[in-house]
Formats: sequence, structure tokens, C-alpha cells
Amino acid sequence: MCGIVGYAGGRNALPILLDGLKRLEYRGYDSAGVAIVGSALQVVKDKGFIANLEAQLPAIAGSTGFAHTRWATHGAPSKVNAHPHVDCTGKIALAHNGIIENFAALREKLEARGHRFVSQTDTESLVHLIESYYEGDLEDATRKALHEARGSYAILAVHADEPGRVVGARNESPLVIGLGPDENFLASDVPALLRYTDRVLYVMDKEMVVITPKGVAIKDLEGHAVTREPQRITWSLEDAEKGGFDHFMLKEIHEAPKAIHETLLGRLANLEVDGFLSEGITSVKLVACGTSYHAAMIGKYILEEIARIPASAELASEYRYSQGPTDRPLVILITQSGETADTLGAAREARRRGCKTLGITNILGSSLTREVDTTLYTRAGIEIAVAGTKTFIAQLIVLYLIALKMGQDRGTLGYDDLDRLKDQLRSLPRTVQNVLDRSAEIRALAAKYGNARDIFYIGRHANYPVALEGALKLKEISYIHAEAYAAGELKHGPLALVTPQTPVIAVAVQDPTYDKVRSNIGEVSARGAPVLALGTSGDRELAKYVDDVIEIPEIPWVFSPVPVSVALQLFAYEVARLHDCPIDKPRNLAKSVTVE
Ligand code: AGP
Repeated sequence: MCGIVGYAGGRNALPILLDGLKRLEYRGYDSAGVAIVGSALQVVKDKGFIANLEAQLPAIAGSTGFAHTRWATHGAPSKVNAHPHVDCTGKIALAHNGIIENFAALREKLEARGHRFVSQTDTESLVHLIESYYEGDLEDATRKALHEARGSYAILAVHADEPGRVVGARNESPLVIGLGPDENFLASDVPALLRYTDRVLYVMDKEMVVITPKGVAIKDLEGHAVTREPQRITWSLEDAEKGGFDHFMLKEIHEAPKAIHETLLGRLANLEVDGFLSEGITSVKLVACGTSYHAAMIGKYILEEIARIPASAELASEYRYSQGPTDRPLVILITQSGETADTLGAAREARRRGCKTLGITNILGSSLTREVDTTLYTRAGIEIAVAGTKTFIAQLIVLYLIALKMGQDRGTLGYDDLDRLKDQLRSLPRTVQNVLDRSAEIRALAAKYGNARDIFYIGRHANYPVALEGALKLKEISYIHAEAYAAGELKHGPLALVTPQTPVIAVAVQDPTYDKVRSNIGEVSARGAPVLALGTSGDRELAKYVDDVIEIPEIPWVFSPVPVSVALQLFAYEVARLHDCPIDKPRNLAKSVTVE
């Protein structure tokens, strides 16, 4: 995820672009840059925050241009990889949010024709492609280039010889037009525009737009004009940064379908998972902290079920100081931030033991990437709320990809199994959306159960760690005491705490332990505990044994942790909202814990 903002009008562009860009910094902040057309094209960019760019900017005159803040996906965060990227003539500048999937093939072709590349980004192939088609009309050249490029993009481009024009295009990455008197704007998100206008037009997939001070023209990729009515935005600036949601956490929970889609993009068809090779691996150890540890625990079940490989999960803070057996499993380190001190320590320990290491993180170029042999990225976009939500879901998706790849390589999956599992993965965004569409129902259940002092969560098998994660979410943001148990363990002690005052949230979807969980529900109901179950849609039997059910669409059990976790995230959020808690910044916690 990156942020882009463009301007064509009568004022000096630079302060407007910088102001807009700062409001998009949540979309990425590993480097930033501007391109302004005045008497010539001027481009300034650097690694680091927008403030770093601002501190070194000369006074650039010009009333057309764009700015970009980057969240790296291809090519490390560095000055040379920062946007804008410029063609060989130095006259075309381009900024891009998204991923050009066929960038390697484009680059090879363009280099063979003499184009000189300087960065490791996918974006640079597009600016040279536009250059190759340029015959005096930037819009036309961009259209031709986009017919050749594959992938997701929101782009802005300017040409030194075409002052007063910014060309934009969108496919699967957001782009919105701001309409002003004698000036027009383009941006990834509304907050960048709200200081200047509340009249906007949304650019849709496979559309292009040209803004000038006097007007806006939207066309499809064939060049046919598109007409669309402007909309008036009624949010405040602060509301807008949260996309209309009350909290970043809620916005991020709702971004789970997109996080799944982006994390799968380009990886599923041929199971090309960023160079990950599974040869010679006979067992796997998954190591992480907190929410990421719960993903690791679920990963054990995913790997054993799909790839039939022995797997275990361990807390990073424990692993790093344990003796460890002499075998050498593949060690998978999972960390959203890539900066968690315990997980980094565990990565070093794994290498000291001679194990191969694989990192899973959401942050390109984070410290973890320097501690492991191979890194696989979740592509969840920036997560601002302290409580991890969409990044946890994206971690599970990467674990499914690893399991499919291993299952294929180890021969535990036939073609039919593989195809079926791939189709099921592809349909997960829809399944999750179905859960999100039940938000009002979950809010009502939060009101019913959310005043308890203690809440128990139970689950078994792959949904035991899901229960752990549900309880952690509730503790973190609502400050209600919540404990999760493997449902079969209740009778070995915790049942003593179960009373009519302790609601029990039971994950009871159709999985290999469904009947057993139903018996465990019976144990807590017999002690008078109210039970809220997460059950499979249409399971009428379950409804007879519990007080309430949140219905989860029917899917194979191995994928059930994804929609169930989203339902539990929403439940925790609604309980915390009920108690008016500072949801995005819970007390005593930080987004990444860089101390032991
Ligand atoms: C998530 O809600 C938590 N705030 C916390 O448990 C977190 O998952 C943990 O600190 C690990 O963070 P990481 O994924 O960045 O390593």
C-alpha cells in the first residue's frame, strides 16, 4: 500500500502536495518523493518519512505535479527505489501504488531495446513502457502501456512538455478525484483532498483520468469517455483518515478480504511463493509472539493437514532460551512488524542451531528480513491499531500457501486436491465478507455478553488457538478478563470457575472435533454458563444446546480459523466500544515490542 496525491491548478503545487501526502502517511512511510512540472520537470525523493523529504526540499516552483509515500513491495526501501520514477529522457515521471505482476518480462524487453533501469522496483518498467509509446501525448502513451501491464495499480504521471496535465489510472488500487474551482486533485484516499474540496469522483477499475486546472476527463482503457456524478463528502478530516469507520481497528477488520486477496495475488496459480523451496525439509517449527504466535499454532494444524509434515509451534521468548533437540526443522518466524525483539532473538538462535529459517512479515525491509534465509510477505497494508487483525488473517493465508507448496512438492496432494484447495482459498474473501455483513448481529451479541467480568473461550484442534486469539483480542482492547482453553481441558481444572456469571464463547464449527466440542458445551451449560457459539450455517442441532449462535459460512474445516477469527475480532471490538475503551491505543501496549 502506498499513498499518492496529484494537483493541477493555479497555485504553487508543492505545499498542497506535501499537505495531502502527510494525510496519507498511514498508507506507507519508507520513502517519499515529489515530481513538479514548472519550467522543467523536477523530481526530489528520499528514503524515510515525509518529514525527512520536506526538510531537504528546495523551493520548487510549478503548479502541476504529484507526490508519493511508499510502502515497499518490490525493491528495498531506499532512495533509488523511492517514487517518482523517471524515464530515460528525464521528461516523464510516474508514481504507482500496487504491483505490476509482469514487470520482469517488461524490463527484459525494454532493456533489450536500450532502456536504462536504475531501481529494483516493478514500477520502473511502467515508466519506460510509457516512454516507449510516447509520441507527444502522455495520456495516449499511458493507455497503450497499460494494455501491456498486468497487475494492480493506481498511477499518476506527468510530462515536462505537458504542463497543467496530470494523467492517472486505476486497477484494484484506489484513486479519487477532488474537484475545485480552477484546480483539480487526485489522491489514493479522501483525507488528502478534504482541506481543499468536499466534491469528489471515484475512479473505477480499468479507467484513466486526466486532470487540468479547468477540468477532469475520465475514460475507459479503450479511450471511451465515462460520465459520473460527483459526490459530496460529509466526513471530518479525522473521520476520513479512518475511511468513515469509528476506529482504525474496525477499518482494518473490514480490510481482511482485501488483505487475503492481495496476499494471494500472483502466488496461487503456480505456487510461486517468493522463492520459497521446500526440498529437504522433514519437519517445521513455527515461532512467534502474541497474535502471531496464535497464527503459528494454527499453522501447525494447517501444515499437518495439507502437507502431512510434522509441525510444532513455540513462543519466541521460550524458544530462544531453550536447549532444543538436535534435529534441524525448518524454523518459520512470524512477526507482523518484523521488529519484535523476542522473535528476532529466536531467528538468531535457529540459525545458530543450523536450521533453515523462513520469515513471515508485513513490513518490507524490517529487521527480521535480515535475520532469516528467506522472507515471505503478507500484503495486508499498513496496520495502525495496536491490536493485530487483518495482518493475523494475512499470516494465515501465507501459511496456507506454504502448506500447499509443501504438499505439492512432497506429493501429499494430487492435482485435484490442489485445485480444490486453491479454489477454496480464492473464495475466502467472500466468506469473510459474509461474516463482516453480520456486524449488526455481532454488535447485539456484544451488548448481551459484554458486561461480564470474566469470559471463557473454548475450542479444539485448529480452533483452539482461534479461541486463544479471540480471548487475547478481548483482553487487549476491552480490559475484560478472558481466558481460552482447549475445550477438552475444562474438566481438568478450569470448570471450577464456570458459573452462571461466566459466559462461554465456544468455537463449534464442523471440524473433526465437532461432536466433542458439543459435549464440552454440555459441561459448561450444566453449570449454568450462558453459551455463545460460533457454528456452521444451517447447524440446527447446535442451536438447541446454546443460547446464541454466530453463523459461519460452511467451508472445509482447515480454512475455518479465518472467518471465525474475523467474527471474534468484531465481537471484541464491539465489547470494547460498549465500554468506551481507547480501542486503537490500549493502555500499556505498543504496536511493536522491540525490547525483551
Ligand atoms: C496483537 O494484537 C498484539 N498487540 C501482540 O500480541 C503482537 O501480536 C505481538 O507483540 C507480536 O507482534 P509482531 O507480530 O509484530 O511480532
